[in-house]
Amino acid sequence: MKLPSYSPHIKHWALDQEIVFLNHGSFGATPKVILEKQNQLRMCMESEPVRFSIRELYPLYQASIEKLGSFIGANSSNLVFMKNATMGVNTILHSLNLNEGDEVLMHSHAYGACANTIRWYAQKNKWKVNVAEIPYPIKNPDEVVEAFVKAITPKTKFAMIDHITSATGIIFPVEKIVKELQAKGIEVLVDGAHAPAHVELNLEKLGAEYFVGNCHKWICSPKGSALLYVRPDKQKSISPLQFSHYFDAPVAADKNWQGQFFWPGTDDYTAYCCVGDAIDFFENNFEGGWKEIRKQNRDLCLKARKMLAEKMQTELPAPEEMIGNLSNILLRDTELPPYGFNYISPLQEQLFTHYKIEVPVFTFNREQPRQWARIAVQLYNSFEQYEYLGDALKEILKR
Ligand SMILES: Cc1ncc(COP(=O)(O)O)c(C=O)c1O
Repeated sequence: MKLPSYSPHIKHWALDQEIVFLNHGSFGATPKVILEKQNQLRMCMESEPVRFSIRELYPLYQASIEKLGSFIGANSSNLVFMKNATMGVNTILHSLNLNEGDEVLMHSHAYGACANTIRWYAQKNKWKVNVAEIPYPIKNPDEVVEAFVKAITPKTKFAMIDHITSATGIIFPVEKIVKELQAKGIEVLVDGAHAPAHVELNLEKLGAEYFVGNCHKWICSPKGSALLYVRPDKQKSISPLQFSHYFDAPVAADKNWQGQFFWPGTDDYTAYCCVGDAIDFFENNFEGGWKEIRKQNRDLCLKARKMLAEKMQTELPAPEEMIGNLSNILLRDTELPPYGFNYISPLQEQLFTHYKIEVPVFTFNREQPRQWARIAVQLYNSFEQYEYLGDALKEILKR
């Protein structure tokens, strides 16, 4: 079987070219030069662990977080590195100071791990959880705003919204939602796991109280690099999940809040130190830098999803204005599968084993279960790869 070629940019990645990798969305993929940089840092760490950890790590952390701050429009002292977005959401929920009987709001497209975090803390603290039902298929971004507004009650104190959803791959109108919720006195956590580098960000302008984002997805830094933003007026009440040395001894005079999150304990923090390098690598090695990368990826995503929906003879579930580098393709009505993060549907298995295609195939939603494939587009992908996916799906589903 002849597999379609990747784009020439594949030379920068370590991806196995015997697999048609259409799932950048799940865990990202890191360019080889950035992995080499991380290896160099690891060699420094292992050649003199104390020198690296005590003398060299903090300046590297700071340089990287400053670069990240200017990239996402955040004052770097309002940012801390986290291992992943899930940890960021947990950090906020464990710090939230709500009263018994208060209500928290999430939504029906929320990522499972983050929804579970809300449920866990709500159960523990006796808060009520409400869910904004976001329609899907969806006609326009205002439907998202309306769904949130409809779900607000006088007792709603906190809401978690997504910037770009995982299961449905759609971009929420975060500015509008944040404004509506804050006008009712509700604090907002934006789950922006997919947002950094995928869409242009200005966190200070957005003004949400809390924002979490992954760097290992679309910035393509090494795995285990994510960010938590906390607005300065909220920082006093937000503490690390794990207390450590810098609880009472500031890491630097002006870094009291941020410093508490530095060095939760012995670990490999080299992924954090490579975030700035990844931002620079893409800006400096691709014509037009990040702006052009975003445009190219989105253009290919729009073209690929249109072609795939035509091949499948199904409707597109969201308008172009809500699409970035991810898109769902409707396959068919289906039964609810057994639940599980690691559940692989027979169709996904067949695509992988017989066609060497890595693409997520899943069921959404519970009320009207339908089967979807979610494509992701990164620079290394080519249009031919999505055509090949379409042909494989047609063959399997006999369209
Ligand atoms: C919307 C959303 N939130 C949170 C996460 C969790 O990210 P991580 O596994 O890095 O914690 C994901 C991962 O895909 C996601 O899509």
